[in-house]
Amino acid sequence: MTFLFNSDAKRGAIFAEAFAKALPDIAFTMDAASVNPNTVRYLITWTAPTDLSRYRNLEILFSIGAGVDQFDLASIPNHVKLVRMVEDGIARMMQEYVLLAALALHRNIPAYLEQQRQGVWSPIAQMQADRRRIGVLGLGTLAQAVLERLKPIGFPLAGWSRSPRDLEGVTCHHGEAGLEAMLATTDILVCLLPLTDETRGFLNADLLAKLPTGAALVHVGRGPQLDQAALIDALDRGRLGAAMIDVTDPEPLPAGHDLWSHPKIILTPHIASVTQPETAARAVIDNIKRHLAGEEIIGLVDRMRGY
Ligand code: NDP
Ligand code: OXD
Repeated sequence: MTFLFNSDAKRGAIFAEAFAKALPDIAFTMDAASVNPNTVRYLITWTAPTDLSRYRNLEILFSIGAGVDQFDLASIPNHVKLVRMVEDGIARMMQEYVLLAALALHRNIPAYLEQQRQGVWSPIAQMQADRRRIGVLGLGTLAQAVLERLKPIGFPLAGWSRSPRDLEGVTCHHGEAGLEAMLATTDILVCLLPLTDETRGFLNADLLAKLPTGAALVHVGRGPQLDQAALIDALDRGRLGAAMIDVTDPEPLPAGHDLWSHPKIILTPHIASVTQPETAARAVIDNIKRHLAGEEIIGLVDRMRGY
């Protein structure tokens, strides 16, 4: 029984050490070229290899990241379980990024950066945190971790998901009516939705128009969820105040694209959060043990929903 690691060797070495200790009966390899494909029961990768079908005894395909939109779900045999990455390290990094973004937008940092570029010394009236309402699109693993990290600052918190949720200290919304209600009362909107057929193009002109004037956006989901031209238009017209954008379409963002130089946008190159090999290896090992014991796998993707 073999676990095939198909990602960078540095992370692979950390996985190998953890597997040797915790699952010595499972052979660990990073060498797809010389492995006997019939022995491969588990594969971890960012994208599915084009020769996936050669692993005919594959049981679990692990995504090395939290997202699974990079996989063509139709090309993965039905009996293979697809599992997204749920691990503490990736959640911690996302907590840091969204806290940073929320505070930067709350404290008008994009405007002050522009003032600095212009040589302008001019304080902006500051709203208190307990009046700055944050709304998170998605209430999954990462969104819940982020909301916990935002709580001590005192922001009023809300979130929106497909199914009803009940989270302490968070006004939870769901469904279409819930979305309208949340948008109307959100000053900083954070997108932490997975990319699916339903969420592609979701952050469009209509949605942005439902936010209060001057609201800000933190986009850490996936680039194709955002209509980038609609965002720029909303910022230029003053409908929105500022944005912090970590994911774009395409990635990398082409030279000369408007997002690079827009004075109301802080842009980062898809670094909000990255899988941490030490904690990720533990999570994957735990999931394999669960699978072998016939228990529920954490992060199992529902192919009908696409996440
Ligand atoms: P989860 O699967 O745990 O959570 C997804 C959430 O989105 C759930 O609450 C789900 O609702 C909600 N959702 C999905 N589709 C819809 C819909 N159509 N309408 C309403 N709600 C919907 O995902 P994670 O929290 O682990 O990750 C979220 C995403 O974050 C990833 O898919 C990835 O794209 C992005 N990401 C970005 C990174 C970066 O560096 N920028 C790093 C890591 C992840 P329900 O609860 O009802 O199922
Ligand atoms: C992920 C990512 O999905 O890095 O893990 O975006």
